[in-house]
Amino acid sequence: MAQKVSAAVFPVAGRGTRFLPATKASPKEMLPIVDKPLIQYAVEEAIEAGATKLVFVTGSSKRAIEDHFDSDPELEQALTDSGKNELLKSIQDIVPSGVTCIYIRQGKPLGLGHAVLCARAAIGDAPFFIHLADDLIAGSPGCLAQMASEFSNHGGSVVAVETVPREHTSSYGIVAVDEGNRDRITQIVEKPAPENAPSNSAVVGRYLLAPEIFDKLENIGKGAGGEIQLTDGIAALLEEAAVYAYSFDGVRYDCGSKLGYLQATVAYGLDHPDTGEQFRDHLKELLSN
Ligand code: G1P
Repeated sequence: MAQKVSAAVFPVAGRGTRFLPATKASPKEMLPIVDKPLIQYAVEEAIEAGATKLVFVTGSSKRAIEDHFDSDPELEQALTDSGKNELLKSIQDIVPSGVTCIYIRQGKPLGLGHAVLCARAAIGDAPFFIHLADDLIAGSPGCLAQMASEFSNHGGSVVAVETVPREHTSSYGIVAVDEGNRDRITQIVEKPAPENAPSNSAVVGRYLLAPEIFDKLENIGKGAGGEIQLTDGIAALLEEAAVYAYSFDGVRYDCGSKLGYLQATVAYGLDHPDTGEQFRDHLKELLSN
């Protein structure tokens, strides 16, 4: 039987330049969708999938992420005193008991593969999740829980994929699969031009990887954009171990782009019990003019 997956890595060191000036002094992972920051959706998805060790690979000006997952006795007292019990619960339950947060600094911006490698000592010799908070996925169960159940069925590493328009291949890791063998990945390339892409099946920000990935990342050197690419590490891994592409059930919002972020805000706003009804009426009115 496949091992249980109990750790998740959140690479959160990136600068978020696409959202400047909003992200000048505040991490892009703290951008809210309605009333929760992106990184909290990420953590909730990982916990739902069974993660009890959360490893954040951070960089400069990311202190707000640590504060968000730490307790805040003064705020808790103020909410208690004013009888705001629901709000109190919403800040107390962010990290349930039994879940540990670990913060590691990525000293230099050497790429996603390097960020994952920074988590090696905290992960050790067990399979683990990687979650990129920019990719918000609405799904029930969440995408990582779906991948964990896929993994428990047949072992091997699992990478979430989605079909994208061919002209977008240069924004993603792109895979080719053996359809006769449960979509085992035969090739993976980082951000190929459409004419060189082996398919239009794109990797989205969810991975469940065997710990052997760390040795591969140690040895691959710089790839696309002069960075140590996670995709290249996976390419090396699939030469000797099974890595499967998994088409998840759910809707992905690319919250690293302004349009995707707005789409997510609208979708989650329509779905939120506090705002849904009035927001729907407002949008109808707005669009009818
Ligand atoms: C990263 C990965 C890429 C993957 C993408 C998913 O790229 O390098 O392979 O397809 O995440 O969002 P980034 O979006 O950080 O440029």
